Amino acid sequence: MKLIESKTFLNLAKAFAGESQAYIRYKFIEYGARYNGHENIAQIVDKIIYNEFNHARMFYTKLQEASKDEISNIDICAGYPFKEKWDLLENLRIAAEDEHEEGTEIYPAFAEVARQEGFEDIAELFDNIAQIEIYHESMFARLYEELKDGTLYKKKESVLWVCDSCGYIAEGKEAWEICPVCEAERQAIRLD
Ligand SMILES: [Fe+2]
Ligand SMILES: [Fe+2]
Repeated sequence: MKLIESKTFLNLAKAFAGESQAYIRYKFIEYGARYNGHENIAQIVDKIIYNEFNHARMFYTKLQEASKDEISNIDICAGYPFKEKWDLLENLRIAAEDEHEEGTEIYPAFAEVARQEGFEDIAELFDNIAQIEIYHESMFARLYEELKDGTLYKKKESVLWVCDSCGYIAEGKEAWEICPVCEAERQAIRLD
């Protein structure tokens, strides 16, 4: 079976659309985090955004490899979530939920179809990205819990904090409000 005539080809297009939307949705979260003064959340989400960009890039590459000619259009029929309101805490919870669905349902199903159609390399890509989305789920879930219960800047045990502005590092249970070196406000990020 040629890739361009397969279900996997359409699934790659759906995955590309999904990753592209995840990229924008997490940009909303990053924007909300900065707007609310949570630089530490913005920094972590920014890394996830870059991961989603690369997922979209890898799916796009597979699509392009399906044809030597220009692909002018792919018709897909798929639903995508539009759950976000402008509420940072709620959007973190939604992001964890969406990542869970991608990682445990959508991509494993796409991997199974790819395997049945004989595209083992694409099946492996879906499986690998599913694992990453499950890790993203845990990151969003942690941010959600920490923002909700006020432990974003306060921990039970001593941890390392780094100033995102100047790089000052110190250990403690609580992050500083104002960096003692560069005086940046709320720029302390937990160093994991
Ligand atoms: Fe992704
Ligand atoms: Fe993700």
